Amino acid sequence: MINYMNLIAWVFVASGQVTSVLSGEEILNVCMDGKHHKATPGPEAELFGTCSPWKDRSCCTNETAFLSHQDGEEGAYGFNYDHCGQKMSDKCRQRFNEDNCFYECSPNMGPWIVDVQSSYRNQKFEDVPLCMSECVDWW
Ligand SMILES: *[C@@H]1O[C@H](CO)[C@@H](O)[C@H](O)[C@H]1NC(C)=O
Repeated sequence: MINYMNLIAWVFVASGQVTSVLSGEEILNVCMDGKHHKATPGPEAELFGTCSPWKDRSCCTNETAFLSHQDGEEGAYGFNYDHCGQKMSDKCRQRFNEDNCFYECSPNMGPWIVDVQSSYRNQKFEDVPLCMSECVDWW
């Protein structure tokens, strides 16, 4: 599986479809250099709420998982989910929680990690392919 995935990653890199700063084995088990990300993926005793599926191999700590579910000043980035002047629906908020956990915890994003100049992170995900079902669910 690992070798197969390496081959896939290599083919994408060789064809210029992605411009990841990583290569080889590390591309499949890596944390980006972000505000709350761990240096390397590893197990956590527990991950809060929606983040729990990542607990065996995670880029987030339990504390980050908890912050990912909070709002405003108490949240991971001080973002207010109701900033449009209307309370965000519970269903929409659930999607945000899932997306936040994916962003903070996934160790599988190597092919899409690129460097970025930012006040709060040195890397980001770029050109991540989405399933159509994901887009439909967001809407
Ligand atoms: C994970 O975080 C939650 C929320 O802060 C806390 O209640 C729980 O005890 C934590 N679990 C571990 C194992 O640290």
